[in-house]
Amino acid sequence: MKKILVTGGLGFIGSHTVVELQQAGYEVVIIDNLYNSKIEVLESIIAITGVKPSYSNIDLRNKIAVEDFFKNNTIEGVIHFAASKAVGESVKHPLLYYENNISTLVYLLKEMKKHKLSNFIFSSSCTVYGQADELPITENAPTKPAESPYGNTKQIGEEIIKESCKANGLKAIALRYFNPIGAHETALIGELPLGVPQNLIPFVTQTAAGIREELSVFGDDYPTKDGTAVRDYIHVVDLAKAHIAALERLLKNNNKKDFEVFNVGTGTGSSVLEVIQAFEKVSKTKLNYKIVGRRAGDITSAYADTTLAKVELGWETEKTLDEALLAAWQWQLKQ
Ligand code: WQD
Repeated sequence: MKKILVTGGLGFIGSHTVVELQQAGYEVVIIDNLYNSKIEVLESIIAITGVKPSYSNIDLRNKIAVEDFFKNNTIEGVIHFAASKAVGESVKHPLLYYENNISTLVYLLKEMKKHKLSNFIFSSSCTVYGQADELPITENAPTKPAESPYGNTKQIGEEIIKESCKANGLKAIALRYFNPIGAHETALIGELPLGVPQNLIPFVTQTAAGIREELSVFGDDYPTKDGTAVRDYIHVVDLAKAHIAALERLLKNNNKKDFEVFNVGTGTGSSVLEVIQAFEKVSKTKLNYKIVGRRAGDITSAYADTTLAKVELGWETEKTLDEALLAAWQWQLKQ
C-alpha cells in the first residue's frame, strides 16, 4: 500500500480525508499537534474504517522533529492541512499565522526536496480571490491583495510551492476550497466546537442546540438576491474526495504542469438567509437569529466555476446543501 502523510489529519477536513484515503486503499500516517483538534478523533477514524492510521504528535514548527520524521518514514505523497485558519484570529495575531502557516510549509518542502519526494497536495482557499470581479470564479481569476494574514498565508504558500516545483522537481496541486461544511454520515467526525464558532454553520447548529442564544446575520444590505452574503458551501466529504482525485493525478503522473490549482466547490452560491431556511427545513428546528451590521473583511459573493476540477480531476460534488446541513445537525446532536 502507498503510504501517504496527512498533516493536520485529526482536523475537520483532514480527518474526513484520512477516512477516504483509507477506504481508497492507502496507508495513512498522520502528523497533528492537537492545537485545533483532539486525540479522540483518531479513535473515531478507526471506528469508521476499522483501520488504525499511524499517528505522531509533532509540531511542524519543530524543524528537528520534522527532519526525524522524514528520516524514519518512506512516504509516497503529502497532503498538507496543518495550519491556523481563523480569519479574525489572524488579524489579531499575524506573526502566529506567518510562523505556523509559512515556516512549517518551508520545513516540509525542504524535507521533500532532501528525500526526493514529489507529490504534494496543499490546502488553499478561495480567500485568495478576495471579491472576484466575475462570478462564478475560475482558476484564472486574479488573486487580490489578501484581506487578512490568514488569506495572505494561503497566497504566499501557493507562491512558495510554485517556486519549489520550478526549482526542485516537486509536483504539487493546490486545492482552493470554498466553504467546507457538514460532517461524516456516521456523525463520528465533524467540525469540533473548540471555542466560539467563527464560521456560519457551527454557529447555526450551536444556536439550534441552545448552546448559543441567537445567530447574528452579518449584514442584509449586500447587492445579492436577499441582501445577505453568498457563499459556495461544499460538503466536507465531497471536499475530502477531491483530495483523493488530486493525489491520484500526481501518483499517476497525469498532471499537465508541475504546479496546478483547482477550485473545489459546488458551483452554486447560497445566501445566509437561504442557508438558515434550508437548515430549519432539514432540522425541523426554528432558528433564533437577528440581522446585524456587516462583518469587517467579508466579501459579497463567492462561488466556484467547477469546470476544471471536473474535466481534469474527474471530480465533482455529489452531496447537496441539505445533506451537508443535516449532517452538521446530526453531528451537533452527538456533541
Ligand atoms: C460565511 C458567511 C458571514 C458567521 C472563511 C474563510 C475561508 C474559510 C471559511 C477556513 C459570511 C456569514 C458567519 C456568523 C454570519 N476559512 N456569517 N454570522 O468568511 O466565507 O470564509 O471561513 O477554512 O477561507 O475566508 O466563512 O462561515 O465565516 O461566513 O452571518 O455568525 O456567513 O458574514 O457571509 P467565510 P464564514
